[in-house]
Amino acid sequence: MASLGFTPQINSSVAEFPATRLRRRQSCGSSRNRVGFRVFAQAAAEPDLSVTVNGLTMPNPFVIGSGPPGTNYIVMKRAFDEGWGAVIAKTVSLDAAKVVNVTPRYARLKAGPNGSTKGQIIGWQNIELISDRPLEIMLKEFKQLKERILIASIMEEYNKAGWEELIDRVEQTGIDAIEVNFSCPHGMPERKMGAAVGQDCALLEEVCGWINAKATVPVWAKMTPNITDITQPARVALQNGCEGIAAINTIMSVMGINLDTLRPEPCVEGYSTPGGYSAKAVHPIALAKVMSIGKMMKQEFQDKEYSLSAIGGVETGADAAEFILLGANTVQVCTGVMMHGYGLVKKLCSELQEFMKKHNFSSIEEFRGSSLEYFTTHMDLVRRQQEAIRERKAVKKGLQSDKDWTGDGFVTETESMVSN
Ligand SMILES: Cc1cc2nc3c(=O)[nH]c(=O)nc-3n(C[C@H](O)[C@H](O)[C@H](O)COP(=O)(O)O)c2cc1C
Repeated sequence: MASLGFTPQINSSVAEFPATRLRRRQSCGSSRNRVGFRVFAQAAAEPDLSVTVNGLTMPNPFVIGSGPPGTNYIVMKRAFDEGWGAVIAKTVSLDAAKVVNVTPRYARLKAGPNGSTKGQIIGWQNIELISDRPLEIMLKEFKQLKERILIASIMEEYNKAGWEELIDRVEQTGIDAIEVNFSCPHGMPERKMGAAVGQDCALLEEVCGWINAKATVPVWAKMTPNITDITQPARVALQNGCEGIAAINTIMSVMGINLDTLRPEPCVEGYSTPGGYSAKAVHPIALAKVMSIGKMMKQEFQDKEYSLSAIGGVETGADAAEFILLGANTVQVCTGVMMHGYGLVKKLCSELQEFMKKHNFSSIEEFRGSSLEYFTTHMDLVRRQQEAIRERKAVKKGLQSDKDWTGDGFVTETESMVSN
């Protein structure tokens, strides 16, 4: 993707949008009817960045991904004030006392010119767990933010009553949608939480059944990339009542080994544990996963109002455009915000608009999913290339013989005969 110019011009201040909210309670089992009804006025800027996802209209497709940038009221409010289309709060569970974090919990990979390790951060590893703040406090803060599009991220143990209680409590705050964290790569697999569910389709089917029988707002299933075929759990989630897929969570990683101490990083009292990798370095992997899910959704769920929220290494409007070209309705950013701050959204919006102007796209829907059709099998690439070579050979290039010489440019005319 060519680099895109930065022209600050977004004028879609969230403060201008009305805060009216209507919510339809769904009848049990008919999850497809669950749509949010928060409708914002469209941004005046052209091209139009606004998107409507599962009935929720956002001024732009940029959503704060669950993590530190959505950890409390202050930072979430800041995200809205800067103009983010929506915020997904840090994942909550019923009992925050069971969530015990360690320090340090981050490690960074830097890369500069000629292999220097002193350059910009390209990879970020964390061994951070879900929110360790008491649920009651998080819920109180959700209520304070209810004029904006707020999505609660939730994760619970393998216990139907627990999931039902958590859903009930987060919904009472007035959140607009739920993202279910089926993808946290570390921390609590022994409690059948996070990726332990997203990596087991039978478990996922059962838990999605519980969740979607209870939830009355749209539900997105957040997928782990730490699995052979990400389309399998994504399909199960959609077949079992979820309205959307979010992908990817972090990629299982070991950031490195300190060659002086021989200890792994990040090092906690001399020891470490594999963590989750994010930021620029994961973007190509995220593109591949989103492409697979986008293709699957197009082929198998096209006629339904399902949504795809893409995540992984987004720092520019070009990164976002790539995800949208693979079928994403919204684009989440987590580590990018940790590195560049909440104001990043203005750059993302203007760069995405520049891309749209270049191609004369006036809305996101106009180009969403447009690149999916260009992915095929390797066998098909071979067939296409052989066909193209045959066609090129069939086209006679250059002069056929000496009798065709014009007398202008003897060298060029002579060489053109070689290719015949
Ligand atoms: C420090 C940190 C904490 C995170 N915590 C959560 C979390 O609580 N819940 C969740 O669903 N994802 C969490 N994530 C994953 C991100 O939401 C996102 O899926 C991933 O980092 C890839 O996107 P990015 O490259 O934009 O960060 C966390 C990521 C980081 C870096």
